Amino acid sequence: MDALTCLMTRRSVRKYKDTPVSDDLIEQIIDAGLYAASGMGMQTPTVIAITNKSLRNEIAKINAEILGVSSDPFYGAPVILMVVSSIKEQQKTNVEDGSLCLGNMMLAAHALGLATCWINRCREGMEYPCYQELFKSLSLDPKSFVGVGHLALGYADGSISNAAVRKNDRKFIVH
Ligand SMILES: Cc1cc2nc3c(=O)[nH]c(=O)nc-3n(C[C@H](O)[C@H](O)[C@H](O)COP(=O)(O)O)c2cc1C
Repeated sequence: MDALTCLMTRRSVRKYKDTPVSDDLIEQIIDAGLYAASGMGMQTPTVIAITNKSLRNEIAKINAEILGVSSDPFYGAPVILMVVSSIKEQQKTNVEDGSLCLGNMMLAAHALGLATCWINRCREGMEYPCYQELFKSLSLDPKSFVGVGHLALGYADGSISNAAVRKNDRKFIVH
């Protein structure tokens, strides 16, 4: 798939098969995220892939609690990609860096035949002991990061919807 086709055809998917995603594919997607541009080249984002079912379900439960729903906010996806950005650097683009990392991963996943959906509330999730324990288990200090976002990642169950019609008057070329 060429880059422009990938950009135009990626869509958020909200129904996933429970088919696992190989570590090789997960790594390719994470690498695409980590190769995104970052403010002053500071490479502030860190990506954590969660495939462990009980941890995945615990994170989904926390996300549902923050959102105030009882359904699975990750739509049954077998993998959660969590993106946090370092706040240690005197750099004010942590959230922008993390967002671009998420964008790259969404596109990389689409190019590899996988589906994603950005799932919010990572910043709030970082307040929960479950997130903090996960970080500590990876020898990371949770206080050194801001939560930027999660991706639901997996194989789409069903067809992918069309893009919404684009709003007008958002394109200008000034010569
Ligand atoms: C910052 C951000 C936060 C989002 N949070 C959620 C979310 O929590 N849950 C969800 O189902 N979709 C979420 N989305 C996905 C958007 O709803 C989706 O991108 C939008 O409806 C456009 O659809 P498309 O991605 O298929 O083009 C989020 C997207 C962005 C960029």
